[in-house]
Amino acid sequence: MHPALLSLPPADSGRLRTAPPAAERGAKLKVVPVDSRGQLRLDEMQRLLNSRTKMVSIIHVSNALGTVTPIQEIVDLGHRAGACMPIDCAQSVSHLPINVQSLDADFFVLSVHRVFGPTGIGVLYGKAERLEDMPPWQGGGNMIEDVTFERTTHQPPPGRFEAGTGKAAASPVSMRESRSLSGRCSNWLLTSIEDVCSTVNSSR
Ligand SMILES: Cc1ncc(COP(=O)(O)O)c(C=O)c1O
Repeated sequence: MHPALLSLPPADSGRLRTAPPAAERGAKLKVVPVDSRGQLRLDEMQRLLNSRTKMVSIIHVSNALGTVTPIQEIVDLGHRAGACMPIDCAQSVSHLPINVQSLDADFFVLSVHRVFGPTGIGVLYGKAERLEDMPPWQGGGNMIEDVTFERTTHQPPPGRFEAGTGKAAASPVSMRESRSLSGRCSNWLLTSIEDVCSTVNSSR
């Protein structure tokens, strides 16, 4: 009996990287189809979910399709089946407020360059009980609690997952600033389009 891993349609090629590591661990990848408007088929998701589903990977917003996934409904459905629920908010976080506690998903991820910050840094939020269950994925400074030739103990989360010298890069942009910047960019764009249209109309 293989554990099942259900994945929602990819928003970018990076997400297709899920398939090889999933296969290496004996997991079966299932993809929830979208309808003709690009919306996830929740009926299909319910059909694919079962007690062997270990994880449902969700993208909150697709910039390419302009779709917004009903994440609360999906998180509730996945949790009812006992699945771990990570949400990729990279394309939603600059547009929508997200309350990680009320949504109750297990993980949230985002890239800081999507909120007008520097490239190369991002955010991984994980529920304390999930993080406590997970081993470190990289080794380096700061994540060690104690080390001898015989044994190593690691810091509790989140330090355990932050190998290397900490706080070397910091984003100067807060979430509130990023939303206000996003609003100012939209206003500037709309005003510029109006200006171009009125220049074109007056030259006719
Ligand atoms: C929805 C989504 N997930 C993942 C990524 C990959 O992020 P990164 O380039 O920071 O690894 C992106 C790219 O910005 C994205 O838009």
